[in-house]
Amino acid sequence: MKIFVTRKIPGTALDKLKSSGHEVNISDLDRPLTTEELLEKGKGVDALLVLLTDKIDGKVIDALGPQLKIVSNYAVGFDNINVEEATQRGVVVANTPSDEVNEAVAELTWALMLSLSRRIVEADEATRRGGYKGWEPDIFLGTDLIGKTLGIVGLGRIGSMVARRAKGYNMTVLYNKRSPDPEAEADLGVVFSSLDDLLAKSDYVSLHVPLTDETRHMMSKDNFAKMKQGSFLINTARGAIVNEHDLVEALKSGHLSGAGLDVYDNEPNIDPELLVMPNTITTPHIASATYASRNKMGTLAVDALIDGFSGKKPQNLVNEEVWETRRK
Ligand code: DGY
Repeated sequence: MKIFVTRKIPGTALDKLKSSGHEVNISDLDRPLTTEELLEKGKGVDALLVLLTDKIDGKVIDALGPQLKIVSNYAVGFDNINVEEATQRGVVVANTPSDEVNEAVAELTWALMLSLSRRIVEADEATRRGGYKGWEPDIFLGTDLIGKTLGIVGLGRIGSMVARRAKGYNMTVLYNKRSPDPEAEADLGVVFSSLDDLLAKSDYVSLHVPLTDETRHMMSKDNFAKMKQGSFLINTARGAIVNEHDLVEALKSGHLSGAGLDVYDNEPNIDPELLVMPNTITTPHIASATYASRNKMGTLAVDALIDGFSGKKPQNLVNEEVWETRRK
């Protein structure tokens, strides 16, 4: 089978793919492809291994040809793929959730919370500029995490891993999801809460919902107004869940004390005001960027293709329902 990989990925997974007997073509451009480039290089292939920066919809699938059978996404989130249109065409879509990826995202979430509360980035920058003149009683005073309230919006696998770490900080953890999760409550000691209540009570609000039509710009003016005065927002999920302009306003007014962001509404563009505020931390979509996590993502993305072509159902099918009637 012919496979096109839209960008080189770290680790040894692509070597495994190359030695699997399939014809593998890897883009040699170390950047996201334009749609035209993707169509040109991917025309006639049986499968694609794509990144979250590749937009795949019905039009792209049609242009690549009726032989396209599998799209393997090197990411957990799959909002870059129009799954409904892929399913209508019998194209299998797979993604890469795993403990390794989820723990990595949970870790970065905590790194952002700790860095914001103890002003680590600001303090580091000041020290490097020669600002440390000796111990002072009132420099870089921060807030404690211990005993505070953490609000987790979306208690899936990643949200649960974020919650588990809160035990060590003796935090009260509120969560919101479609319906209460008694198992998680027993296991993690978390408390179900309406979104409004969670926003009103939490000192830290961390987003862990997927990007859908329902969650797009879910954190806008109205919901920022509902957040507790002086609270912090953390987003390691998808940028478009937050209306960036409204976030800037909430930070400028002082209603929010800070924000830790790994993802942005219109990546790779970031509202310039977020980049100059002292109370924001902005990382370049690196939540899953650990060796273990990226290796696992590569293995899962490649195995989905090898398995799919051998007739074995891939471990992480996004559109499970298409398997029996998939293109062959
Ligand atoms: C994902 O997997 O969805 C992350 O955002 C990128 O690794």
